[in-house]
Amino acid sequence: MSDRVESSEKKGSEGVAGADEIVRKQNPLRSAVVPMNSKGLRLRAEDLLDLTDGRVDREALQALAGQSIVNPRQFDRRTIVAIAQLAALLETRNVELDKPLDGKIAITAFFEPSTRTRLSFESAVQRLDGKVLSVPDGQVTGIAKGESLADIGEMFNTYGDVVIMRHPDTDSVDEIRRNLQRPLINAGNGSGHHPTQALIDWYALLKWRPELSLADCPQDRKVHLGIIGTPGSMRAVKSFLRLSLMFEQSVSNITLISEMADPVGLDLTEPIEESPIKINIVNDVQEVLPELDVVYVNSIAFLGDSYRNLDSRYKLDSNSNLKPGAVIMHPLARNNELSDDLDETDHNLYFAQAAGAVFVRQALLASVLDRLDRITGI
Ligand code: CP
Repeated sequence: MSDRVESSEKKGSEGVAGADEIVRKQNPLRSAVVPMNSKGLRLRAEDLLDLTDGRVDREALQALAGQSIVNPRQFDRRTIVAIAQLAALLETRNVELDKPLDGKIAITAFFEPSTRTRLSFESAVQRLDGKVLSVPDGQVTGIAKGESLADIGEMFNTYGDVVIMRHPDTDSVDEIRRNLQRPLINAGNGSGHHPTQALIDWYALLKWRPELSLADCPQDRKVHLGIIGTPGSMRAVKSFLRLSLMFEQSVSNITLISEMADPVGLDLTEPIEESPIKINIVNDVQEVLPELDVVYVNSIAFLGDSYRNLDSRYKLDSNSNLKPGAVIMHPLARNNELSDDLDETDHNLYFAQAAGAVFVRQALLASVLDRLDRITGI
């Protein structure tokens, strides 16, 4: 099977309207065309569903009902694929008509800045007819007066049905859960984890190359992942690596490229040691770049009590010696590590990756809030 993708480069300025027409034709019920990434690869959610004749592994999703999502280690390959299948279904069908989250309230409590995570969660809830209580800046809460997160968690029990929290402290998840009885979705906790970002990353990969979801992925479709960054202090990189270790049947190699002597960190030392995937660590990106099928890059790290750019000497641009057909992923926000002269190229998977966020978060919320029965056809 070939990678069935389209690039805006090939489509030119008329390509955006052309792509929208394709979506409308495939989904005559959809009243509003799904927003798509403006540049780079366009992924087709249908390609992932084709592998199962449109079926979604509902049993795996039902196990998430009422669960908090705090650490990527609570997932397994089956659940990740099931979430991606439901996300693909949501991306290709007008399930807004089903109103799956009608009557549910999500609290988004962000004690740290965000462009994508908060807004895509809020969009996900509202598009499924749920309601949102939004705290875009934790300083407008009692935190500014010295209130504890544990006390705020107690209050949230009566205000909403699910809490989506981002916080600069790694311990914040445990702190709010001292009193919170509603499911908590960790939207990034210091240098800890960013589990929903990793689900979004794998959704993009599974749409790009659907065979990666198979237990018997053909040998010539397996991928060599390169990760430029320091998982020990970069939560998005850490969570992506953690999920990638669960795809041992489709990931042949993982190469970590970092400035640090020991970039892995305590959380992942054991899973890496136990993984059958060939994993190595290098500090010269040129050494490996031409071998990588997927290059995941990030530079924002949480060190001590502040954010810093790490691994900033590694820069990708359109002159980088990338393998033909290789894709670049980035959780965004980016800095100088990823040049915008790559945006128009077929290497750009990062915009399509970000564009999938709403559907993955919808799939997760419908599962956690036990509303799968409201989605027709699964
Ligand atoms: N990927 C991500 O977490 O982006 P934001 O910081 O904008 O939420």
